[in-house]
Parts: sequence; structure tokens; C-alpha cells
Amino acid sequence: MSGVEEDEERRRQRKLEEALEVKSLRRIISAYLNYPDAAEEDVKRYERSYKKLPPAHKALLSHYPLKLQKLRRCISINSYFIFNMLQAFEPPLDMSQDIDTCESSHCEDVPNDHVSGAKDACCHSTETSEKMYLSKSNQACCGEEGIALSNSPKEVTTDKEIDVENQHDSLTETETSGLEYNKETENFRGDYFIDSNGNVSNHEWLDPSHQLHVPLIDVDKVRCIIRNIVRDWAVEGQKERDQSYKPILEELDALFPNRSEESPPACLVPGAGLGRLALEISSLGFISQGNEFSYYMMICSSFILNHSQNAEEWKIHPWIHSNCNSLSDGDQLRAVLVPDIHPASAGITEGFSMCGGDFVEVYSDPSQEGSWDAIVTCFFIDTAHNIVEYIEIISRILKDGGVWINLGPLLYHFADMYGQEDEMSIELSLEDVKGVALHYGFQLERERTIETTYTTNPRSMMQNRYYAAFWTMRKKSTTGKEHAPA
Ligand SMILES: C[S@@+](CC[C@H](N)C(=O)[O-])C[C@H]1O[C@@H](n2cnc3c(N)ncnc32)[C@H](O)[C@@H]1O
Repeated sequence: MSGVEEDEERRRQRKLEEALEVKSLRRIISAYLNYPDAAEEDVKRYERSYKKLPPAHKALLSHYPLKLQKLRRCISINSYFIFNMLQAFEPPLDMSQDIDTCESSHCEDVPNDHVSGAKDACCHSTETSEKMYLSKSNQACCGEEGIALSNSPKEVTTDKEIDVENQHDSLTETETSGLEYNKETENFRGDYFIDSNGNVSNHEWLDPSHQLHVPLIDVDKVRCIIRNIVRDWAVEGQKERDQSYKPILEELDALFPNRSEESPPACLVPGAGLGRLALEISSLGFISQGNEFSYYMMICSSFILNHSQNAEEWKIHPWIHSNCNSLSDGDQLRAVLVPDIHPASAGITEGFSMCGGDFVEVYSDPSQEGSWDAIVTCFFIDTAHNIVEYIEIISRILKDGGVWINLGPLLYHFADMYGQEDEMSIELSLEDVKGVALHYGFQLERERTIETTYTTNPRSMMQNRYYAAFWTMRKKSTTGKEHAPA
């Protein structure tokens, strides 16, 4: 192949990858947009079951239709939150581009809900504790080629233009489940082009004509995100955060007692989810970077981190999608307010960023070697296809003497993937995981088991508990010098 042909082939490949990513992003946006309709289908199913009851049983449950009406109202409120989140989202890609390239190349079946590799890594970063914005990051992981979520800095203003709380309360109990909040009528209907301020949106990609029909499993991911919001950004999630995040924060605090404001230690949080742990680490005095590859997560964390005007700005009803194990209807339908804190006022350390992309691809870049003083993995290492590769990379990108703090179970994400036998999945015991870590130069400093839940409804009659492994390992210094904490 000549040089010109190689260039042409590379260009074609890049175009294809970008088209694939646009397609995957459209699918995720569609999943968010499909949320109200999918939820309404559930309510209709409950109604059909109720109608089948014999009259005597119906009479016993005469309050049930009212519960379903309230459920519709809760769905509307969740949809309103989602709609505002999508309005605030600035896609890192040209969403208007023609994706025929992708269609003609038979790539539509590639399962993809995530930001692709290093080359497409995108970061939203923060500069000072007063300003949080999306920007082209100069973080190593994003480099020159990084696609930022936005080119222009966005400041979070503190003046609240609209009283969201009042808007929510004034939603009518109509049976519609579309996504429009119309200020004049205080009805919530299906016009995606009017935002909460009554402005016409220029987000063409929110146009219903671009909306794809997505499998219900995609809408399930949206429901998972709603539960994750409670874990990271609601008072109700505090207990769970105390179980999982607090031990990590205390360990970091103890391991870096003399961290300086001028030159703070750098901490990476792979699989950062909705970003709360990464934010807490930043507030503790670290240059903190969250890494996350799911667009579902990135869209939501970007909204909360960069667009929150104040604490408790939004109301959501996170527990409405399960009728099982509720103590009462009131428990199931209860609202939570988010975020519990105003992220921009959390006293973050300069350099806080969220880096989008696959951990393996982004942090395999040679520029990452020996970059981090600490790496924190919380409910992350079992997301690997190959956990050995994760450990190898963690070791390589830590500085000599750097620490790896881990908390989580070993619920391998790619285990038991029936029907997808070719999905690689290396599923090691805890003993083997520690053995691999020793091979890659780690020394175990502390270890214990922590009992914790993950996105669990604290008022449910079913509470799944993990006996999570918690450890601190230190990368042995190759020079043989003792480690001096930053
Ligand atoms: C179980 S969640 C834990 C989230 C967060 N650490 C917490 O404790 O709430 C695992 C997270 O890792 C992300 N993830 C999985 N594989 C990843 C990869 N290869 N690179 C980056 N993020 C990944 C998922 O999207 C998900 O947000």
C-alpha cells in the first residue's frame, strides 16, 4: 500500500469510528428520551392488571388508581430532570453528521454505550473552586487529540433564574409523559424544543425525528443512572457513601499528611461513575481526575458538576420503578432532592477533571507512565475483561512509592454473558488478584473487609450487601529509596 493509500485508509477508519460513536451517542440520548414512554408502558401494564381484578378485590384496593396517577406525576418529574440534563449537554461530536458510513459498514450491532478510546477521550475539567466548566483539557489523557465536551468555558452562575421547586410542584396530573415543560401552561408535554426557561432549543439532536427506538435494556440503564444519582448526590446516599467513600478518603488523608497547596498530589479515580468520590478527593486537597467511559454517566455527571446552580435544585423520584419490597406506597413514591451539595462550592483543588474514555486505552498511553501519586478504585476492578491488564496499568502509571487504594467486590461484569461466549472475561479470586498485584511490584500495606451496599434503596425490604475487599497497596520503589509522601 502506498503512503497516500495508507493515509486514505486511516482517514476512512477515523470517519467510520466517529460515525459509530455518533450512532452510539444518539442511541444513548434516545434511551434517555424514551424513558417517559417506557415508564408509561409500565403504568399501563399495572392498570391492565388492576382491571382484571374481580370487583370485590378492586373495592379493597380503591386507592390503587390514585397511586398510579401519582406514579405518572413522578415519571413526569424524573423526565423533567432528564430533559434539562439533555438540554445542558454539549455533544463532543458533530451530531448532525451523516452516519451512513457506519450503516453501510455493518457496524450497527456493536454494543457501545461508552466514550471510545484514548484518541476520543474527552474531559470536563474545573479550574478554580468558583468556576466549573467544560473545556478542552490539557490533561495528559486528553492530549491534543482529545475531544472536549465544549470549546467555550462555561461559568456556573449563582443567580437562580427559575424556581425549579415550584415548577415541579405545579405540574399537573395529566396523563402525558412527554418532555416539555411549558412555563405558561405549567404542563409537561412532548415538545423537546422548549427548555425550562421557555427558550427554543437549538439542539437539533433532541428533535424527535432523530430519536431511535431503543431496546428496553437501554432504558433500564437510565433507571440505573437515577439510582446512581442517589448514591452520589443525595442525602439518602450518605450512608452508602460513608460505607464506601469515607474509608478511602480517610486513608488518602492519612497517607498524604503533608500535602501542599502549591503542589498537591495527583489522584486518579478510574470508573468514577457520577463523580462524587473524585470531587471529594479534590476537596481533600488532591489534583483529582475521574475517568469514566459510559456516556450515560458522563452526561449526568457533567450536568451535576458543571450546571448545578445550588444544592437541592432538582427533585427526582428514584424508587418508583420497582413495586417489590416496598413498606408503603409513600416509601416507593418519595422524592429526593439533588444535588445534596453545590459542587462548585465544595472547595475543590485546581485541576479537577473528568476524563472520558476506556481506562485501558486512555491510560496505556506512554505519557501516563509514573504520573500518579495515588489511584483509587471503588467498585471498579471487576469491570475488566482482563483484570490482570487493569493491575498492570495501575502499577505502570503510579509513581514509584505511589499508592493504590481499592474498595469493592469481585462481581465480574463480563461473567456469565450467555449468548456472548466470545466476550473475554478473566475471573480471579481475591487471593489471585493480590498475587498478580505482588507480581506487578505492589506491597500490601493494609487490608480489611467492608460491609456495604451499592445503589440500594435504604427503605427497601431487600438490601443486597457486599463484603467488599478494601486494601492499600504501595508500588515498590525501583530505586530502593523509602517513599516520602507528597
Ligand atoms: C460499578 S460502577 C462504580 C462507580 C463508582 N466508582 C461508584 O463507586 O459509585 C463502575 C463504573 O466503571 C465504569 N467503567 C467500566 N469499565 C470501564 C472502563 N474500561 N473504563 C472506564 N470506566 C469504566 C462504568 O461505566 C461505571 O460507571
